[in-house]
Amino acid sequence: MNVHDSELIAELMVKKGYRLTANADEADVVIVNTCSIREKAAQKACSQLGRFREVKKKRRDMVLAVGGCLAQQWGKRFFDKIPELNIVFGTHQIHRIPDMIASVLAGCGSRAAAAFTKHVRSLDLFPLPVEGQVGAYVTIMQGCNNFCSYCVVPYVRGREESRPLKDVVQEVLVLAQHGIKEVILLGQNVNSYGQTLGNSTNFPSLLRAINRIPGIGRIRFTTSHPKDLSTDLIGCFGDLESLCEHIHLPVQSGSDVILERMNRGYTAADYMGKIELLRKACPGIAISSDIIVGFPGESEGDFQATIGLMEKIKFDNVFSFKYSKREGTEAADLDNALNDSVKELRLKTLQELQDRHTWERNKAAVGSEVDVLVEGFSRNSRSDVTGRTRSNKIVNLKGDANLIGKNVTVRVLKAHRHSLRGDVVT
Ligand code: 5AD
Ligand code: SF4
Repeated sequence: MNVHDSELIAELMVKKGYRLTANADEADVVIVNTCSIREKAAQKACSQLGRFREVKKKRRDMVLAVGGCLAQQWGKRFFDKIPELNIVFGTHQIHRIPDMIASVLAGCGSRAAAAFTKHVRSLDLFPLPVEGQVGAYVTIMQGCNNFCSYCVVPYVRGREESRPLKDVVQEVLVLAQHGIKEVILLGQNVNSYGQTLGNSTNFPSLLRAINRIPGIGRIRFTTSHPKDLSTDLIGCFGDLESLCEHIHLPVQSGSDVILERMNRGYTAADYMGKIELLRKACPGIAISSDIIVGFPGESEGDFQATIGLMEKIKFDNVFSFKYSKREGTEAADLDNALNDSVKELRLKTLQELQDRHTWERNKAAVGSEVDVLVEGFSRNSRSDVTGRTRSNKIVNLKGDANLIGKNVTVRVLKAHRHSLRGDVVT
């Protein structure tokens, strides 16, 4: 979501005649787009700002702006923390950034805009693809109404708002005309898409509409909430040719006690039941997840329940995090915080287990033929290209620029820990 917002900000600036630079130290304008979902992300943003603050001390004419979740949370208070800042803009104010910069350059002083609005104007804007781009993010909704007890998102992105179906479809049509082959639909909880539209539109109806768009061979989405995963949506995996056989379905914990305290609205058994239905509707579907370790009061037994769930499901991939306390959330007031060494140990145990599962799944793919959409050159060699299977596994293969943007059948020859190696089947 934040990456996509940054793409949009870049496009808004380019439209005003600015050019992007890889060297921020020579930039006329530096915009830091922050994330505050976990403490680490917030710290990273602060250290970036610290660095640009020093640059600005030497180059007073540089405009320094901060946006995103931290800017939303701190608003004007950001100026007290970093007096060198010129602009603070919240998550609902992205569309205003060029005007705010113009106003600072016109000598009107520093600017802050962090109000929530009923309609988020930037939802109507989207960046056009750059030369050679194969896949594109498409925001379908903004905000979240779920209030998981650990999560700051509802406070920094506001209430849920879905984009009208026709606007999303129009955007995907334009992307397809620009050569985009794969779209990744974005929302904090895509399966509640449509609820604010006041008609019968829902997420499966949006998927069905996009599935009919010529040129878009692959549809992915992130993120979906297990409690709202409907049988209609599960059925889409079996029915829609363009919907990729992969779902990212954050479980967060395998302990019912912790799930309840996280306010997740499902039990571990409910989650397992949904996985079973998904695997029945779409055999071989890849499943990835997010897991938090060290939620306040998480006992060794609770942690073992998470490990047990992982053993049963054998996820294709898991993003795992140490719980971090976020100011203003319900969980911030809970007692029984775990110390960092316990969280660290649990995280390491979980990650070692997941690495084994990912490795086993990668090894099982050796010898099979997979459909790969080639996205670009590989990071390590200009004689190799890289792409993804429909199940979201990275595949590297010999190839040149002609293959970029093409769908090829690849025989998997070798499994690495986090990728596959193969050859095009002629
Ligand atoms: N601490 C740790 N992880 C968190 N996440 C969200 N909030 C927190 C927090 N306070 C994780 C969840 C979510 C992912 C995007 O970030 O696992 O799914
Ligand atoms: Fe945060 Fe996701 Fe829960 Fe919304 S559904 S509160 S974004 S974790």
